[in-house]
Amino acid sequence: MRTMKLGASTLKVPVVAVGCMRMNSLEKKEAENFIQTALEEGANFFDHADIYGDGLSEEIFADAIHMNADIREKIILQSKCGIRKGMFDFSKEHILHSVDGILKRLNTEYLDTLLLHRPDALMEPEEVAEAFDILESAGKVRHFGVSNQNPLQIQLLQKFVKQPIVANQLQLSITNANMISNGMNVNMENDSAINRDGSVLDFCRLNDITIQPWSPFQYGFFEGVFLGNEKFPELNQKIDEIAAKYEVSNTTIAIAWLLRHPAKMQPVIGTMNVDRLKECSKASEIYLTREEWYEIYRAAGNILP
Ligand SMILES: NC(=O)c1ccc[n+]([C@@H]2O[C@H](COP(=O)([O-])OP(=O)(O)OC[C@H]3O[C@@H](n4cnc5c(N)ncnc54)[C@H](OP(=O)(O)O)[C@@H]3O)[C@@H](O)[C@H]2O)c1
Repeated sequence: MRTMKLGASTLKVPVVAVGCMRMNSLEKKEAENFIQTALEEGANFFDHADIYGDGLSEEIFADAIHMNADIREKIILQSKCGIRKGMFDFSKEHILHSVDGILKRLNTEYLDTLLLHRPDALMEPEEVAEAFDILESAGKVRHFGVSNQNPLQIQLLQKFVKQPIVANQLQLSITNANMISNGMNVNMENDSAINRDGSVLDFCRLNDITIQPWSPFQYGFFEGVFLGNEKFPELNQKIDEIAAKYEVSNTTIAIAWLLRHPAKMQPVIGTMNVDRLKECSKASEIYLTREEWYEIYRAAGNILP
């Protein structure tokens, strides 16, 4: 697996991250097999959140990897906090409490990265800054980031938080590509010109913040997988054609499309299937041509002005 630097940090990470949101669906043996395969593929970056499976995903992970000091040094662990039942919560108290729970469930003394999961309307940035300082000086968290935040929200946070924001996890796939199409439709009278994210893609590039696309295979908001889906005939035909050319699967091409973007994104894949995991990993060896990238973009119904 190819590696890259995460944001402005010196942390070397694989270009594909393994998302553990669905790990609570696995039996222990299945989880062991899945994690072992990930490690063999060089996919040693694992994305968690305190809410995945209500904490169960983190517990299953730690158990299945047989966490100990030796293993801990070989992997990169990211988790997220800030979502509570019926609300978002970036209070100092909640962040500190949440991280302690995460560390306990993951059976580790530190996180490589902690992300704030979804913007909290009641956030007091000074409180977040205090929480980050405490976590950093206690050695509990080494790097900090956000998720689902726009440029102004990040700037507001960064005004108070002294640690650099190294990652922003955002929904992005071939079929949810407004972040990309928006930049090519500036000032046009079409829907793609609607700026829903404050130009977060350019902002992240300008500020060395790695974008981590979540749900790289889903269309809509968890509506289903677009690959092999009859709702997307033109897209699947194009992806299959390019997959045949490279002698890889459609899964590989969907991830290669994200990796081809010069923003150097780190897609977070959610599969719990070992074959699909290997196919995602293979994407780091494929470099689509400009023509192929745009053909896939257009086949999904994304427009060029
Ligand atoms: N920050 C946020 O707000 C946020 C939100 C959502 C998710 N995330 C992170 O992003 C990760 C990925 O999210 P996700 O799981 O929604 O992403 P995804 O990778 O787009 O979707 C994974 C799901 O799609 C299925 N799938 C993938 N390819 C398939 C195919 N070709 N045919 C049939 N089924 C296929 C997988 O089933 P199999 O297991 O059978 O392959 C799995 O159920 C999560 O684990 C989490 O870490 C973050």
